[in-house]
Amino acid sequence: MGVYAVTGSASGMGREVVSKLKAAGHTVVGVDVQESDVVADLSTPSGRRHAIEGVLAAVNGRLDGAVLAAGIGPTPGRDRARLIFEVNHLGVVELLEGWREALTASGDAKVVVFGSNSTTTTPLVPRRTVRALLRGDAEKAAKSLRMFGKAAPSLAYAGSKIAAGRWVRRAAVRPEWAGAGIRLNVLAPGAIMTPLLEKQLATPSEAKAIRAFPVPVGGFGDAGQLADWVLFMLSDSAAFLCGSVVFVDGGSDAYFRADEWPRPVPLRRLVPYGWRFARFASRR
Ligand code: NAI
Repeated sequence: MGVYAVTGSASGMGREVVSKLKAAGHTVVGVDVQESDVVADLSTPSGRRHAIEGVLAAVNGRLDGAVLAAGIGPTPGRDRARLIFEVNHLGVVELLEGWREALTASGDAKVVVFGSNSTTTTPLVPRRTVRALLRGDAEKAAKSLRMFGKAAPSLAYAGSKIAAGRWVRRAAVRPEWAGAGIRLNVLAPGAIMTPLLEKQLATPSEAKAIRAFPVPVGGFGDAGQLADWVLFMLSDSAAFLCGSVVFVDGGSDAYFRADEWPRPVPLRRLVPYGWRFARFASRR
């Protein structure tokens, strides 16, 4: 049986993941700003440090996996963009970096980061916002959205999830992660019925946009089903899954972007590996 850290453990999909992991006999250390084993506010540097240390103290230096589900949605509010960046991006990246040694100690660890299909279905997210986040600069990222007024929280939300996803894909293939037996992957849900979505539906402008958004299979997703996906991505069956973004969104991403992806790698990226490699890649 494994030992897992789960952020956002007090509500919604994180809570479902905790209960399914425990039901399967695993040990779970929950991290949340409310009702959890490690109470920590991931919107501040000291809260993130407390989360890292609290979990490490509880697991005796070894983690078999982590689920990064803590997140805040794009509801309106003062300084909301900054808050979104701190929790949704830095609350993922800093915690994983802080837990990397403990994940390495497992020899076979799996990590699931909650992304979102807002990453590929929200237009006009500025590149500089994502670049600032990938440098760890939440303040600059927030400044880059000031001119967008009421649209800032939605752009911040999508930007936070794009940056977290890119960080995961960049890190996943590196020797210190893939080579250390750690599988880093992203689960990208569409609209799932949880307290986060309920808050958005309670905001009239948000509710209108959510209800008008095309979901080919119809309705909203179920938190328990998404937790089942997480458990599968933490299982031995996911040993060959590395740096993937798994969309579970009722078809919205495919609806908008059927022809955008998959897309061939630009030739210049293969040149360093030689022509033989390029020919091999083209045969698969
Ligand atoms: P939720 O609101 O039910 O749960 C989120 C949890 O994060 C809560 O327990 C909350 O206390 C915790 N949290 C928020 N701010 C925190 C902070 N500063 N420090 C520590 N913990 C904090 O949300 P839900 O829907 O279960 O979301 C889980 C993840 O899935 C989030 O990352 C969210 O962005 C993502 N997601 C949700 C979608 C949805 O439609 N519900 C769609 C796509 C992605």
